[in-house]
Amino acid sequence: ARLWRGVIEEYREWLPVGPTTPAVTLREGGTPLVPSAWLSQLTGCEVWIKVEGDNPTGSFKDRGMTVAVSLAAEAGATMVLCASTGNTSASAAAYAVRAGLTPVVLVPEGRIAHGKLAQAILHGARLVQVQGNFDDCLTLARELCERYPVVLVNSANPDGHRLAGQKTAAFEVVDQLGDAPDLHLLPVGNAGNITAYWAGYREYAAAGRATRRPRMWGFQAAGAAPIVQGKPVAEPETVATAIRVGNPARWTEAVAARDESGGRIDAIPDEEILRAQADLAAKEGIFVEPASAVGVAGLLRNHRAGLVDPGQVVVITVTGHGLKDVDTALAGVGEVTKLVVPPDPLAAARALELD
Ligand code: F0G
Repeated sequence: ARLWRGVIEEYREWLPVGPTTPAVTLREGGTPLVPSAWLSQLTGCEVWIKVEGDNPTGSFKDRGMTVAVSLAAEAGATMVLCASTGNTSASAAAYAVRAGLTPVVLVPEGRIAHGKLAQAILHGARLVQVQGNFDDCLTLARELCERYPVVLVNSANPDGHRLAGQKTAAFEVVDQLGDAPDLHLLPVGNAGNITAYWAGYREYAAAGRATRRPRMWGFQAAGAAPIVQGKPVAEPETVATAIRVGNPARWTEAVAARDESGGRIDAIPDEEILRAQADLAAKEGIFVEPASAVGVAGLLRNHRAGLVDPGQVVVITVTGHGLKDVDTALAGVGEVTKLVVPPDPLAAARALELD
């Protein structure tokens, strides 16, 4: 079997890297596309889950970060910086140290999941906790990168390096299925990923690698749904901290992806996000963080509304691993029945009510 080489070596000619740009890689990408019996039976569609938590730092951000950091290193940068709700900072930190660069990460104080905080710390990032939300962090990041010799590795960066890397997820879906799906669902936060997928699907179709392009269905958390409401949200609030974004940098591009594809962007209440997270774990064996369950919740909500025609090929991207945020996961399940037994088979059998 051939080993997966990471998204730059697998898709170099599709990316804004030169033929000899050294790849800073952790062998990201090549993630599983897993069929969902539960969602397929429910909707009468063929539903697939693209499991992006399988990336090296546990989220899809690694696809973009390998490109952004490889190009920053090639250009002679010594320091990279990002604003983040946690996953971008984890990824930036890992790839930066791999390239011998110093990572600086700006995160909203007290509002990122513990796993992500641990990643930034263990990778040795210079961690700055900002007294504000993600949108404040991003504004600050842009200001610092304008004034100091630091390279911005947010998907908001006009160089487009991050988005170029992230579009490889759409290439993989087509390569895995043999064509584009009818429908692609995913969460929307800062709106980089929906922009990247749509670019990937468009490029592959234009090059004849796919015969069609999917409709893009994006989902925001109800308390942080600026695109759905048509105006920025000053105080975004949701249990899905990864997508707690009030003024997405790629707003215009996300609306274009929605409209050009004939798609939709909806808001999902926190209860439905947590239910989808729990059901995906309990029914399919796939543990994702809350933000990553939003696409699943979105399919369920639109199915209840009669908006999902049967017979379609559907792909849902789940963006980050459940282990990123175990606090929220455990808080969501409430009181768990605890079986405590001595190391004795009879006692264990009695506790389990086996006889
Ligand atoms: N899912 C997860 C797990 C995320 O971390 C993010 C974004 C998204 C979905 C939304 O993607 O922003 O491209 O629309 N996280 C960013 C971060 C904001 O800083 O890690 P998007």
